[in-house]
Amino acid sequence: MKNVFPAAGRVLLSPALRRFCGSPGSPGSPGSPGSPGSPEAPEDVSDVPASPQLTKQASLYVHWPYCLRRCTYCNFNKYIPKENNDPIMIECLQKETEALLQLSQVSHITSVFFGGGTPSLAHPSAIGAVLETVYKQASLSGEAEVTLEVNPTPEGMSKLEDFHRAGVNRFSIGVQSLQDEDLKSLGRDHSSQEALQTIEEARRLCPGRVSVDVMFGRPGQTVKSWEGELSELLAACDHHVSLYQLTLERGTRLFKQVQLGHVTPPAEEATAEMYHRARGTLQQHGFLQYEVSNFAKHNSESRHNLSYWKGRQYIGVGPGAHGRFVPLGEGGVVREARTQTLEPDVWIREVLQRGHGTRRRIRLSHLTLLEEVLVMGMRMTEGINHKHWKLFSPESGLHEIFGASVGVKELQQSGHLLLDDRGLRCSWDGLALLDTILPVLLVELEKQISTHRVADRFLCLVRSLRCGGNNESG
Ligand SMILES: C[S@@+](CC[C@H](N)C(=O)[O-])C[C@H]1O[C@@H](n2cnc3c(N)ncnc32)[C@H](O)[C@@H]1O
Ligand code: SF4
Repeated sequence: MKNVFPAAGRVLLSPALRRFCGSPGSPGSPGSPGSPGSPEAPEDVSDVPASPQLTKQASLYVHWPYCLRRCTYCNFNKYIPKENNDPIMIECLQKETEALLQLSQVSHITSVFFGGGTPSLAHPSAIGAVLETVYKQASLSGEAEVTLEVNPTPEGMSKLEDFHRAGVNRFSIGVQSLQDEDLKSLGRDHSSQEALQTIEEARRLCPGRVSVDVMFGRPGQTVKSWEGELSELLAACDHHVSLYQLTLERGTRLFKQVQLGHVTPPAEEATAEMYHRARGTLQQHGFLQYEVSNFAKHNSESRHNLSYWKGRQYIGVGPGAHGRFVPLGEGGVVREARTQTLEPDVWIREVLQRGHGTRRRIRLSHLTLLEEVLVMGMRMTEGINHKHWKLFSPESGLHEIFGASVGVKELQQSGHLLLDDRGLRCSWDGLALLDTILPVLLVELEKQISTHRVADRFLCLVRSLRCGGNNESG
């Protein structure tokens, strides 16, 4: 259930759909490198220009690729540094931020998220330097959310004040578990006590703006032990909680351990029960669920992650970062998906040579853009309202696309999906089954968009034939 993208949305989604959920926070899975610089166009690129309302602003994701060690479950883009690369990394992050801001021509950055890897390993001046670069080229209001992911080690905790002074006003703390045995077997380098102390210090500095990441569905975990852990967490946490279902990622140590039978993850039903109980418990404690994995009270939702789920533009800088924006600076009119080079040393070389390390650019077809808007939007409890959908699909509304579908009607009748005056959204029960709902919606979307396309082509043809006839007779 996480962001990553960045990290978000790890839960419940089939691997095929997860590609849409590359969280911001998460630079996603390594994409196959394409030729840097020139956009690859998938078949069916219909150049539907993006609305100016969408292109003037963006959020910024900054990836710090280094970690001190590899946690057993993690397949994020991270490297163990051989030496201290901070100065060159900071220089390159600034250069790339400048280059991509110019390319996008956005005038307003709405939020900034420093994710990783372990960005709390960076020198606090890295934060100030990137923010300075943003201020020089675009507006970033004093109120804008600036989040830093923190590993709750003593070192991480000791730097919080300096990070705060450098401009961070929200901390996202990777607690993962409050069981010391589990932390050890997951390869974490902190104890539960250190995690609790880090939360306390972060809350002192940024009251109301501290989030915690916790994973459930861990080997050895039971519904009962999870409930105990949640109560402990609720006693310590601030106003935001992210709960991610532990995903077994190929190539990780944990994946191998499970394959060899050395550890056993809980049964699917037990994991589903953990999710169910956690949603209930958090609600009882005043937390509103606003997304599959995210809960907030007192309006403390993550503005940055909301911007992904609402299909807004984002710029991703740093090794392996992802972005979605229209390159207005070079005359582009269509949104592109961009991925930066994964490997830090190669990325550094590219940034020094040509100002950015973009490895892959794909112009998003109209259908792909709508698929992303749908998959991301349905993760939110509020779903997608009509106005929001029209921004991306002025030609066909939600009722037109989904209203007549048999599959959608069945989901409405079973009480999992709602399509009404507010828009399209999952019910409480439906959100836990998003993985099975999305394929139905995606199939319908594709069907309707291609029908519209054929109808549009037919109309064009008829019009051009009419024009030809007029000319002849004239
Ligand atoms: C990539 S980490 C970066 C933050 C920081 N380095 C940390 O470990 O706390 C971001 C979040 O992704 C989540 N995450 C990473 N790997 C995961 C996995 N295999 N399954 C579920 N969540 C995962 C964790 O909850 C983590 O806090
Ligand atoms: S510290 Fe975070 S990013 Fe690094 S390996 Fe562990 S989970 Fe992954």
